[in-house]
This record gives sequence, structure tokens and C-alpha cells, in this order.
Amino acid sequence: MIKSSLGRSHQLLLMGIVASLCGCDIPEDHSIVPIPRSVIVGSGSLDLNSSAGVHLIDPSDPRIQEIFDIWAAPYRESGALALSESGGNDSAIKVDIDGQGAAESYRLSVTTEGITLNAADYAGLFYGLQTLSQLMPPDAVTSSDVSSFELPVLEIDDAPRFTYRGVHLDVARHFFPPEFIKHYIDLLAMYKINRFHWHLTEDQGWRIEIDQYPKLTEVAAFREQTQMGHGLDEFQGDGVRYGGFYTKDEIREIVAYAQARSVMIIPEIEMPGHATAALAAYPELACTEGPFEVAMTWGIFEDIYCPYESTFEFLENVLLEVIDLFPGDYIHIGGDEAPKARWEESEYVQDLMVREGFNDVEQVQGYFIRRIEQFLNEHGKRLIGWDEIIEGGLPPNATVMSWRGTIGGIEASRRGHDVVMTPYSHLYLDYYQSADQENEPFAIGGFLPLDTVYSYEPVPSQLRERDKTRIIGAQANVWTEYMKTGEHVEYMLLPRMLALAEVVWSPAEAKNFTDFLKRIEWHLDRFDALGVNYREPDQ
Ligand code: ACM
Repeated sequence: MIKSSLGRSHQLLLMGIVASLCGCDIPEDHSIVPIPRSVIVGSGSLDLNSSAGVHLIDPSDPRIQEIFDIWAAPYRESGALALSESGGNDSAIKVDIDGQGAAESYRLSVTTEGITLNAADYAGLFYGLQTLSQLMPPDAVTSSDVSSFELPVLEIDDAPRFTYRGVHLDVARHFFPPEFIKHYIDLLAMYKINRFHWHLTEDQGWRIEIDQYPKLTEVAAFREQTQMGHGLDEFQGDGVRYGGFYTKDEIREIVAYAQARSVMIIPEIEMPGHATAALAAYPELACTEGPFEVAMTWGIFEDIYCPYESTFEFLENVLLEVIDLFPGDYIHIGGDEAPKARWEESEYVQDLMVREGFNDVEQVQGYFIRRIEQFLNEHGKRLIGWDEIIEGGLPPNATVMSWRGTIGGIEASRRGHDVVMTPYSHLYLDYYQSADQENEPFAIGGFLPLDTVYSYEPVPSQLRERDKTRIIGAQANVWTEYMKTGEHVEYMLLPRMLALAEVVWSPAEAKNFTDFLKRIEWHLDRFDALGVNYREPDQ
């Protein structure tokens, strides 16, 4: 709650909340994305120049210092702002965590005298600083020419709409080196995205080092070659051996990097399907004999993990090493696109079905996922899976990622499960951004322009009020079958991720696509300054 001792600013903030709810308080003189809950632009401005100092109210907290330094580093480097910490109370910027307000919230006040940032917690502090950056010239982050500028006098009161604000990256179809992953996390964090779903295993490659199973990186991390084009006709390979993986040290470094930027990483280890690469390394995990090879084409593959006791032992051992690396609550176990042909034909699976009293092979998928959920829960983690995990019996504590539309999410929320919405119709960033496909980089298909992403509303209107609270957020997915370079990933991500950011952070009533298009100009200028690729919006 806003304290009444704030006096005039209290009234201003309340006015702002009312104004933004009516959709009529969208000041023309800021470019903040995602648009905050309340912005009141006053009159006048603050002159900020390279001698501006900072006063951290609690400098003894190393996390506050670290968050501030992460934000300040490029400005110090460019020379735009020295941000020395010697200024004490006279400093232009005062930063504090006061524990007030909702999780991840912050209040940012710019007066003609200086800047005050009060945050509820570390995430709120990080986000308040991101907003502050967006009040500065877009090239202040890189240019030594920008050493003096004016900030508008304003009051911002901001907090997220959803707790889960996610972006995914498939590093299995194509591999992206650790430096790019950190850069990707930077881009997410700039826009207050707080979940990075790291899709680490697939038919075409296994990307995470597991000590107990060295063949996962010796064998499963490499494919002989890659299909060219959509592969609808006869296979045509590029003849180039392809692969890579992250070492545990690299993963630890990336996890720490993400944590410092308030991003929780959700690692995905796919099961029971999309497992061909693992089967190429350890064919005894399949229902048939093999041998298998790491897939060179895209699609859905019939060879999946067989639910032997030894397969569970393998997966649990893998998960123990994964749990050890990732401190977040969630482990994603995939669960999507697992054809049951091999299970139907397997004597072992048929016996298991008799033993367990199953009359449908889909129930074996339910059994598989429930066992894995129990294991994860026993080790202090929560299971999240694609919406196919509903089929065959939803595990009791699972969170569902609804991708085949919203039906799965609606059903899971009605059954009391947390849901992350990620329907391909609105949030699959591997789809074309223009109907004019000829002039776009080759993509998987589909059509997902910026305004469609922007228009997405994660909470289905037909849900009862109590089920609505189960929609914890939304996520955009970046599948990389046709993206070989970081530059191409950036092009598919931006600016569509900015639209997602506004969907998951901003009050629904504050959204306005025309205004958004105006505001993102500043961001495209910043991407230019940073050398980040993006697609120029059509309008
Ligand atoms: C998915 O796109 N197969 C989750």
C-alpha cells in the first residue's frame, strides 16, 4: 500500500491509477515498455550530467550494490554518467529497498532536484532501474557524446500483473553459445521478463553435461548433418556435422548471471518423447533395440523412452544433476508430442498396463509423468509440462504450459492447477512476422505479426473468478529449427517480445497498440545503439 505520509505524491499516484484504468492517461512524453501501472508526468525536468552521483540507502547489502552496478556499468563505460557513490545525500539518484508494495514493485520519482527509486525487493529495484534507463536518451548506454540530458519530472508507481513472465529458447535444434545466452537474458531482463525457459534436450541434440552419463555429450550432443529446407520431400542434408553442449561450469555461470538480473531459469529435459538423441547414446532406454542416430530432420519421432525401471533410474539420475545446477522452483519435463506406437507394440508396456490396470496406453504417459513428478516433489522441485501431460491423468501438483491453444490451460485451471499460457496462435515467435514471406528470413511457417502478440489476453473470459487466479502468466517460445544464428534469433524475438512484456506486466486496461508503436521507436533506437537486430514494424 502507498503510505499516506507521502502526502501530495499519494494523491498524484491515486490519480494516476484512476487515470490509467480509464485508458486516458498515456503521456506522450515517455517511451516506457512495458507501460507502467501509473505514470504521472509533471512539469519541468531534471538535468542529469556525467557528474551525477548515487546514494544507495543500504550500501551494506551487496545485492543492492551488485544490481546497481550491473545497471550502471554501460553508463560508466560510455561516460554518460559517472554514478560515483561518494555523493551521499546530495546525490542525484537515491536508491532504496523499503519492502513496501507488492512483490517486484517499485516507485520512481523524478523531480527537478533528483531521482528517488524505492523498491519492494531486489527484483523491483532491478526493474525500477530498467525504467530509469528508458527515460534517458536511447544511445546514452553506448555513446560518449551523451554526457548531459534532461529527464521529465514524473512519478511512476509500478508492479507486475503476472508473476510468471516467460520467454523460451530452443538450444537443441540449433546451439547458441554461453555468451549469447547471457545476452538473451539481458534482453529479457530489460523488459521485466522474469522466467527463461531453457529447452535443453531434443531429438536433434542433448545440450547439458551430465557426469554420470558421458555419452549424452559425447554422442547425443552431435548430429551428422541437418536437413535443408522444410524437408517435405526427399531428405537433403547439408553435410555438416553439428552440435555442442553447455558444461556444468558454463551453466552455473549462466544461472548466477540470470539470478543477478532477477531471471529464474527453468531447464527443460524432454520426456518421454523428443528423446532420440538420448536414445542414440543409450539405446537400452528404448522399447526396441536400435541402434538410433541423433535426428537430422525436424518433426515428431516414434522412438521414445520405454517406461522400464532402468529408464526411471536413468531419468532420476539425470534430474538429480539438473536439480543440483538450477536453484529455481521448476523443472520442465516436456511431455509433448510423444507417439505411443512403440509402447503399444512393447510386451513390457503391455504387461505394465495389466499390472497397473490400464486399458489405454495414454494412461502409461500419465503414470510416467506422475512418477517423475513425485520424484521432483521429493527433491523440493515443482513439475511443469506441456499440455499433453493432461492426457492420461494430470499429476497432482503439476503446472501446465498450454501451447496447443488455450483449452488445456482452461481445463487445468478448472482442475485447480497453475497454468502458463503459451498458445502458438499468439506466442510462437518462430512464426513469420509478415504475410509477405518472400521478403522474410526462411521460417517454419505460420503468421504472427506484432499486433497479434500485443492483442493477447492470457486470462480466458469464460473462467470463473477463482480459476482465473490459476493463470500465473504467459510465455513466448522461440523454436530454432530455422534459426542458426543469434542475429536471426534477435530478429524473431524483437520487437515481438516487447509486445509480450506489455501483455504480462501491464494492466490490461493500459494497453493501446497505437501508443505502443510510438513508444517502441525509442527501443528500436536503443537496439541500434547496442547493435541488436530486430524486425522493423510494418506500421
Ligand atoms: C511444442 O511446441 N511442441 C511444445
